[in-house]
Amino acid sequence: MPRPRVFCSHELFHDAREILEATCDVEYWTNSERPPREEVLRRVKDKDALVCLLTEKVNDDLLRAAPKLRIAANVAVGFDNIDLDACTRRGVVATNTPGVLDETTADFAWTLMMAVARRLGEGEQLARSGDWNGWNLDQLCGADIWGKTLGLVGFGRIGRAVARRAIGFQMKVIYTDAMRAPSDVEQALNAEFRDMNSLLADSDFISLHVPLLTETRSLFDAPKFYRMKPTAFLINTARGPVVDEAALVAALEAKKIAGAALDVYENEPFIHPGLKRPNVVLAPHLASASIETRTKMAVMAANNVVALFQGQMPPNMLNSAVLKKT
Ligand code: DGY
Repeated sequence: MPRPRVFCSHELFHDAREILEATCDVEYWTNSERPPREEVLRRVKDKDALVCLLTEKVNDDLLRAAPKLRIAANVAVGFDNIDLDACTRRGVVATNTPGVLDETTADFAWTLMMAVARRLGEGEQLARSGDWNGWNLDQLCGADIWGKTLGLVGFGRIGRAVARRAIGFQMKVIYTDAMRAPSDVEQALNAEFRDMNSLLADSDFISLHVPLLTETRSLFDAPKFYRMKPTAFLINTARGPVVDEAALVAALEAKKIAGAALDVYENEPFIHPGLKRPNVVLAPHLASASIETRTKMAVMAANNVVALFQGQMPPNMLNSAVLKKT
């Protein structure tokens, strides 16, 4: 049996490389610049598997260019870069990396929340500038976090991990989701289910934890911002297009909300210039970026590929309908 041929659109961590290379012939994109699209299309031509990042669009174009492809293994939990229907139609398995990044992402949502509330970005700039004149009573006073109300939009694994951390901050946690969580989960996390409008009206911090779907695109638009408290902050570690960025900028300009802390953007890597203001903390899509977690994500993607070629169902398969076709 010839070894499956794999293209990885980025180098992988050692542990993941070892798994793949034990049974597959692997070609990596090793440039620090991202692979141009034409290069990806050229490299997948003769490959049985693709290991890709969320910056790679796995759509009809790519699948057409890769007639032998059997699996596209995303090194990310979000898979809005993958056209699942197109994969299923063409018999290509798609996989993602759920579970391993929940706690790390929750940590980062908190990092952003604390940074924006306590004006860390402004403080850091002042401390480095050489212009700091010493302690002053009203210097860079921000907002308290402890004891406030945290509104979670999306109460899946990551939303719940964020809620768990709120217990130590004596916060009231409210959440909204398409499905209400079981009562034992609500009790354990001291979280109260609300409809969206009530969450918007009562939250001091709103943190987004929904996937990007047709229903969640531009979920946070002008009317939502107008329903928030003028003292409230928006935190987004989910996906950029969940927020209408122009509406967010308008809300910040009109002081309809107090600030925002963002890890994700509508058109990454472009960041709307209107977001570059002191009351907005900006991070470059880092929420899962710890060595431990990114290694686990890469290992998971590698295991998905290897499982398929060993005749097993990849553990993180997104389109099991593919199996019904074969
Ligand atoms: C994901 O996995 O979807 C994150 O956005 C990157 O870790």
